[in-house]
Amino acid sequence: MKKVTTKKLLEMKERGEKIAMLTAYDFLIAKLLDEAGIDVILVGDSLGNVFQGHATTLPVTLDDMIYHTKAVCRGVKRAMVIVDMPFLSYQVSIEEAVKNCGRVLKETCAEGVKLEGGSEIIEVVSKLTSIGIPVMGHLGLTPQSIHKFGGYDVRGVDESEAKKILNDAIELEKAGAFAIVLEKIPAELAKRVTESVKIPTIGIGAGPHCDGQVLVVYDMLGLFEEFKPKFVRRYAELAKVIKSAFENYIADVKSGKFPAEGEFY
Ligand code: KIV
Repeated sequence: MKKVTTKKLLEMKERGEKIAMLTAYDFLIAKLLDEAGIDVILVGDSLGNVFQGHATTLPVTLDDMIYHTKAVCRGVKRAMVIVDMPFLSYQVSIEEAVKNCGRVLKETCAEGVKLEGGSEIIEVVSKLTSIGIPVMGHLGLTPQSIHKFGGYDVRGVDESEAKKILNDAIELEKAGAFAIVLEKIPAELAKRVTESVKIPTIGIGAGPHCDGQVLVVYDMLGLFEEFKPKFVRRYAELAKVIKSAFENYIADVKSGKFPAEGEFY
């Protein structure tokens, strides 16, 4: 079984083969994803929302990310594992960014890190890639800047922001990034970005022209029910299945139907 690498992702773009990426935060989901043939597993800081129950990703710590990545790693043989660097783990100084991203690569099986932002973090990206730490960029709706944006609206709609996103993508490529996530931007802008860089773009709410797609795993499994953004396709309705299993178990315990003959020693 051949491991997915940065080189393989680049070759996939060149061949026109789409890249499938999903998030994971634990051993079991990571194992199922790997066995299903996923190309890239992102240990996303979305775990702050869907695992920890926070309103934003801002409270997530580096220790949280390392803890979850270690669990994910135990389930993965083939997929490439990328870790989202949490808020303030790479923005304070180049030295801290190197130390924190280095920690992720030293203490887990992760093969790269994902950083949100463009020109603002370009020196950090250059430094990391120059010392051998693979960096995935993230442009468009960057959830760590949610208070600056004031909401989860589509980004890059006006011409000046669209230009910045395009220029940022080109700068990230020059700084050595191996891929770029494009979140919640118009499909036409994602197409322009994808055609302007040699490295793969991975879209989430960015349309069909990206080189790959990513979703939050609990969204696509239908586990997170509170709301469903337009770009999420639910491949299962697991919240309903799980709730019904819980209700059946509770009813069986209360009525004495569980455990039955053959279910005890
Ligand atoms: O944190 C995350 O899960 C992400 C993806 C949605 C791209 O950044």
